[in-house]
Amino acid sequence: MLEQFEKIGKEALADMKEIRDLKSLEEFRIKYLGRKGQVTRMLSEIGKVPKEQRAAAGQLANKMKKQVSAAFEKIKSKLSTSEKEKTKELIDVTLPGIKPQIGKMHVITQTISELLEIFGRMGFSVAYGPEVEDEWHNFVALNIPPEHPARDPLDNFYIDDDTLLRTQTSTIQIRVMEKHKPPIRVVAPGRVYRPDTVDATHMYMFYQLEALVVDEGVSMVDMKTTINQFIHTFFGPEIKWRLRPSFFPFTEPSAEVDLLWESKDGKTEWMEVGGCGMVDPNVFDAVGIDSEKYTGWAFGFGIERLAMRKYKINDIRLLFENDIRFLRQF
Ligand code: DAH
Repeated sequence: MLEQFEKIGKEALADMKEIRDLKSLEEFRIKYLGRKGQVTRMLSEIGKVPKEQRAAAGQLANKMKKQVSAAFEKIKSKLSTSEKEKTKELIDVTLPGIKPQIGKMHVITQTISELLEIFGRMGFSVAYGPEVEDEWHNFVALNIPPEHPARDPLDNFYIDDDTLLRTQTSTIQIRVMEKHKPPIRVVAPGRVYRPDTVDATHMYMFYQLEALVVDEGVSMVDMKTTINQFIHTFFGPEIKWRLRPSFFPFTEPSAEVDLLWESKDGKTEWMEVGGCGMVDPNVFDAVGIDSEKYTGWAFGFGIERLAMRKYKINDIRLLFENDIRFLRQF
């Protein structure tokens, strides 16, 4: 019996030298240390050893089990680290890397920057105002009386009786004139809100660029020249635009600005991009500017429509769907 035990021990040590990978290691484990493995069996056979030899056999068997187990653990940890290193080597450093996605500004943000830049060069400074407004700045000071249809609760996002989301950036004209005395020359970009039905050219939220010039002797010629200069700088010399007589409570006379463009159904037609006019004396009175001494002009343009005309985008909804494939083009 003892000889047989020793033979198993020797064989195990010899087999161990042949282990090259995790698969042969597992085979080794089953052969010797598994439930029916030789070392396990050897331990269970101690009882059959004749009495005089039993103690020695027990000692020998336990020693062998310890040795084989310890050697097994050692090989196992060595093999698993080298296995890990093998997968590490599988990374091919010559393959092209994964390109990082580079972000960029939304086309509307880009457009606003360009607008401010153009007007900056013409000597305009920039003003901002709150999106949550009171009736004074959105209507009253702009000469829009309480009975005017523009004040209908159904045409505005009212928050309470006197508070609403501004429907126009003309509110910033009032805020600027309340703080600053002429000469004034500002542009003011910002979001405005109207419960409009959404279609290819309408949205319940959009951006406007407001302009206001107030000084002595300012005339409609200054207004038209400035708008013409701006339109040609922004769109290039080929653009066709027109001034069309209109009405706004806060300007007299008033006009709308139209651009020739191709609509969604392929028709060449005029698209309104904003309103303009000479500041109504009632507006000057509301903010305490002497309407005998000063005159002024103003405009409010829809920024999405300017961008749509420039980049040939025929549906405003594309600008707000945030489809990266669309936005990446600009
Ligand atoms: N606030 C007007 C609108 O939202 C646009 C507008 C018209 C602005 C005439 C002006 C202006 O400054 O003079 O429809």
